[in-house]
Amino acid sequence: MIGRLNHVAIAVPDLEAAAAQYAGALGARVGAPQDEPDHGVTVIFIELPNAKIELLYPLGENSPIQGFLDKNPSGGIHHVCYEVEDIIAARDHLKATGARVLGDGEPKIGAHGKPVLFLHPKDFQGTLVELEQV
Ligand code: CO
Repeated sequence: MIGRLNHVAIAVPDLEAAAAQYAGALGARVGAPQDEPDHGVTVIFIELPNAKIELLYPLGENSPIQGFLDKNPSGGIHHVCYEVEDIIAARDHLKATGARVLGDGEPKIGAHGKPVLFLHPKDFQGTLVELEQV
């Protein structure tokens, strides 16, 4: 059911420093910061040949990644995002297997303007999983 790896998201305590490291030390193509007020994050996308890296930094008072950074002050991998063709079919299949969908279970429009859902990390080896319909 899942398709390509779309991105790996890394929460960072210093967005500019992280972007500079990816651009300089790793020689990656680094985009401009984008504020995503609906998601409580500022995001920088890094385009790799086969996937993206999404650098996440808290935006606003109730950012969903603030707690993660409090527990991981030097940053860390926050989630992985897999592509699916039909997010409703994927959700219904996953729920039938017992996996928990976060929030109200309805897809939201994610940072790429496409429908996304998140799956409970306790159901996936301790990893927060994002599904994105492509
Ligand atoms: Co993501």
